[in-house]
Amino acid sequence: MLDTIKQTADFIRSKVTEMPSTAIILGTGLGALVDHIDDKVYIPYASIPNFPVSTVEGHSGNLIFGRLGTKPVLAMQGRFHYYEGYDMKQVTFPVRVMKELGIETLFVSNAAGGMNKEFRVGDIMIITDHINTFPENPLRGKNDNRLGPRFPAMTEAYSHKLIALADEIAAEKGIRVMHGVYVGVTGPTFETPAEYEYYRIIGGDAVGMSTVPEVIVANHAGMKVFGVSVITDLGGKDVTEVPTHEDVQLAAQAAQPKMMEIMRELVSRAE
Ligand code: HPA
Repeated sequence: MLDTIKQTADFIRSKVTEMPSTAIILGTGLGALVDHIDDKVYIPYASIPNFPVSTVEGHSGNLIFGRLGTKPVLAMQGRFHYYEGYDMKQVTFPVRVMKELGIETLFVSNAAGGMNKEFRVGDIMIITDHINTFPENPLRGKNDNRLGPRFPAMTEAYSHKLIALADEIAAEKGIRVMHGVYVGVTGPTFETPAEYEYYRIIGGDAVGMSTVPEVIVANHAGMKVFGVSVITDLGGKDVTEVPTHEDVQLAAQAAQPKMMEIMRELVSRAE
């Protein structure tokens, strides 16, 4: 696998003059951050050797290099979801390539359904921890010690320092942010009321169909991670609204300015 990763990284390096140490996976709700990236170089996924190609509605596939404020960044516009049929190695391949390129800190965003009864649609939830309910782990199989340890700790999967900094920024800007545990599920079904309830009872605050695989691999590779969810719908025993993909997109769009303000500042202030 390392040879494949290196081949892809070499291709990307040949397109870029300045290599960042920060990467951002632009999930639903953070796509417009691209507008704030200056001096952009686009590399379509379809042109990158060994990269899977994004298929899902609402996600276009590009690596974008540029500057957010003064900070050089690599942004992934569009990610690969397990529910699309990609296997875990494909879903997380871009994170392996990021590491090879010298990325040290990974910012991830997503849309999620809220189970925490304090949450409202449009809330921003800083991810403090996660629960992996995917049927497999991206690290399953022979471990390559050059990529990371066989049994990586996941005690601080989401950097406490970055969470504290994000809290500080949100307070300065007067933006309400919640904290919570993200439950990663395969989808593509939204949850039944009983399933939302179940995920709440086992300790989850929000549920979504991404992020967990990438964060596992980023931790394996020794990267620092910050994750944030926009709560696009609510689920539970007493919730009767039916979530749709369109509603999720609309709610995420509405929350986007808040999310963006925090992320811009956080990325520029993070070490
Ligand atoms: N469940 C799973 N994934 C999601 C949801 C949800 O309710 N909302 C946005 N992504």
